[in-house]
Amino acid sequence: TIVKKILSKKIQKEGFKMNKITEVKIERGIPTLYVDGQPFWAFAGEVHNSAAYAPDRMEAEIWMKMDQSHLNTLIVPVYWETLEPEEGSYDFSLVDSLLEQAVRFKKKLILLWFGLWKNAESAYVPAWMKQDSETFFRAEMYGGERLNTISPLCWEAVERDAAAFSRLMGHLREVDKNSSVIMVQVENEVGLLGTERDYCRQAEEAFTGNVPDKLMDAAVKSGKIRARETGWPEKADWTVVFGEDAGEIFSAWFFASALERIASVGKKEYPLPCYANVWLKQFPWYAGSYPSGGPVEDMLWVWKAAAPSLFTIAPDIYVPYVSEIMEKYTRPDNPLVIPEVRKDAVTASYALYAYLNCHALCYAPFGIEDLWQKEPDVIPKEVTEALNIDPLSFDMTGTKETLGEVYRLLGEIKSLYLRYRGTTHLKCFLKNAEGEQGCYLKFKSYDMEIRYLPQQVGMPTAAGAVFELDENNFLIVGMMCNVCVHTKPGDHRKVDFIRKEAGTYSDGQWRCRQRQNGDEKIVTMLYDMPECVKMELFKY
Ligand code: DGJ
Repeated sequence: TIVKKILSKKIQKEGFKMNKITEVKIERGIPTLYVDGQPFWAFAGEVHNSAAYAPDRMEAEIWMKMDQSHLNTLIVPVYWETLEPEEGSYDFSLVDSLLEQAVRFKKKLILLWFGLWKNAESAYVPAWMKQDSETFFRAEMYGGERLNTISPLCWEAVERDAAAFSRLMGHLREVDKNSSVIMVQVENEVGLLGTERDYCRQAEEAFTGNVPDKLMDAAVKSGKIRARETGWPEKADWTVVFGEDAGEIFSAWFFASALERIASVGKKEYPLPCYANVWLKQFPWYAGSYPSGGPVEDMLWVWKAAAPSLFTIAPDIYVPYVSEIMEKYTRPDNPLVIPEVRKDAVTASYALYAYLNCHALCYAPFGIEDLWQKEPDVIPKEVTEALNIDPLSFDMTGTKETLGEVYRLLGEIKSLYLRYRGTTHLKCFLKNAEGEQGCYLKFKSYDMEIRYLPQQVGMPTAAGAVFELDENNFLIVGMMCNVCVHTKPGDHRKVDFIRKEAGTYSDGQWRCRQRQNGDEKIVTMLYDMPECVKMELFKY
């Protein structure tokens, strides 16, 4: 038996080595996702919540359609309720179907662990847990009303979740020999709705106790509170230390600690990159109108301190100010991953900006399968209201073609991006708001005036990038803009083209759609389909 044990350990280890597991590496200060040993952009879409209960329908309605929009990755839930229907007995059949389909359709997967918490509720926990609210106690509002959310202080529940999650990760390690799964999201949009914190008995006890030292240290380090030496009372409870933010910080600490436990136990089995997503802080801005305790921007310092096993916090973006959110969640300690984003036509523009400017590892409009349906289901307004989602973000007029073309084109220019990212030779632009007229990008010998075309319903917005290939050669990639070249200030010569071509890349080759001169050289206009213009310039 000892020999057997050693052998099976060896096999396990070598099997594990055979998987080229996904890694996030920092290169020239830029996070890079390595999949199968190569830098990888996840051109993704997230499926609707209930899609993964039915693998057959997924096959016909999703996997078979992905190439239409040049997706290379699908984001799909794994439901705890189906994974562990009886306590301690596991059923991996849905997961196995996903893995099989991913291999057959040559795609990658990001799995969403719908465990203890999903959108501030505990709707995906197995029935045996749902029905035992004695052991698995629920969070309470002030006054004792129970929420349909298991308390983040219920360690008993957290441990069961961690056990199930680690079984899932162990299963992936054993069976996912193709490394189809490239990342895992732990839970989904956690926090408490309707209250800034839990008021159950256990929470009350913790809230009137001292703030944990680790959190105190993190608060001092991030400048939230002054250092302890300068005089904290002996008993520093949450309200004394954090004042009116105490409730939200308390929730963030317990949710983040729970996710840390779950993620770390899972990663011990199989160290895939794990992250948490966030329901953003948005109007009307008070904790509880969005899930309180979730990793909103103000709470990132708590989450970073409590949950180091999560490599990033990923925003779900349905608000109109998408680029602002992308920029906030792009930090040296937080690579940009967007597991859910609006899917109206402007999403194509944001995708371009996310990858080229914010170095996103993943971008995924939500409910991606709707793109491929003749008559997509209308999302009831009750749903968008309950989730505080801008209903316009689900209007897909014009999205299918432009998003697909952005994904395709980005795939083609990836090696150029890898060469120029992080240098002054690559500059990006995006129209953020209706009033914005354009931007002026400065390079070594020439400057580019980019005029944004007016916004139209069902069309992307102005977005793109300029690559300075050498002093006189440029590649412009983008849409909805007009580009005009200038000499540098003080250089009174004029600019003209030696050669100008509009076109695209395919199979790694430049495909000239039109060589341009005469009338066509007067303006350089990019319309709603993403395109490229190559120009060789001279001055006279
Ligand atoms: C955000 C959630 O994370 C998703 O699972 C889904 O519920 C969307 N909102 C809205 O459809």
